[in-house]
Amino acid sequence: MRKSIISALIAGLSLTGIVQAADLTIYSGRGESFVAPLVQQFEQNTGLKVTVRYGDTAQLASLILEEGQRSPADIYWGQDAGAMGSLAYAGVLAELPESLFTDIPEIFSSQNRQWVATSGRSRVLVHSTERVDQSEMPSSVFDLTDEKYKGRVGWAPTNGGFQAFVTAMRVTHGEETTEQWLRDMAANQPVVFRNNTTIVEGVGNGDADFGLVNNYYLPRFIARNADFPARQTFFANGDIGNLLNVAGVGILERSNNQEAALKFVEFLVSPAAQQYFTSVVNEHPISNQVIANPVLGNTDTLLGASPEVNLDDLYDLPGTLELLRKVGLI
Ligand SMILES: [Fe+2]
Repeated sequence: MRKSIISALIAGLSLTGIVQAADLTIYSGRGESFVAPLVQQFEQNTGLKVTVRYGDTAQLASLILEEGQRSPADIYWGQDAGAMGSLAYAGVLAELPESLFTDIPEIFSSQNRQWVATSGRSRVLVHSTERVDQSEMPSSVFDLTDEKYKGRVGWAPTNGGFQAFVTAMRVTHGEETTEQWLRDMAANQPVVFRNNTTIVEGVGNGDADFGLVNNYYLPRFIARNADFPARQTFFANGDIGNLLNVAGVGILERSNNQEAALKFVEFLVSPAAQQYFTSVVNEHPISNQVIANPVLGNTDTLLGASPEVNLDDLYDLPGTLELLRKVGLI
């Protein structure tokens, strides 16, 4: 009762025009439906008022660089390590306290401590359970250029997840090898899809036998239909086809709200928020202190499968787009 009187009073106050200024401004490349409940929880926990500007991950990162000292952003939250790396290399992010990283596997943190991952998603190989025999499973993404996969592999060259993977291949294997792989793949008559969802759908209905996708799409199909005729696997441990990409968060160095901003970052890596990413969004948690999502498999498998890549080095998306254009894929 008391509480409802207080909320009525607060509602009345804002109606009369007394609006509280924001304590924190977040630029978020992550979607509103996913972020808003977390922000609301954070506001309830701390009494701080948060304003979020939503947009495309890469575009918001560029905007922060354009705005420079005038930027109202205290925090940048992007869904791609490449965007985090571009801000880190531009030198606009504050160094985060070492204590934040104590329980977090190295693979989820930037080496220079300028940002921390909030969750992870892997590249995986989805395959038909009806048309693929176990003996046909490739051990590397490089095997897919083989004659026996001709016309059978689905991919989506315009998709951000795929492009981040190509950037990682450029970083780990070099430009020439990557260009050759793209050309050999294209010559092997892949089935081209718009995005990850349509790839998984296509593997289910027979348009392709294999597909290069992010890990959280197939679980959605299986949640609706346990008999959906596809499953997913990693390539051999360490293969670049298993790239672990992350969403990450950083604090702008020029922000005057460092303390409040750090509270928000701490909230995102806390077990409560991590449980949400894992259970609701089907993304890999960065901490072991959550109840695992059964469809994601355990963290040790993930860490074993993931190739070693310095996530900050995934910043060169423009170079990847140029390469994809050069070989005629976009
Ligand atoms: Fe996605």
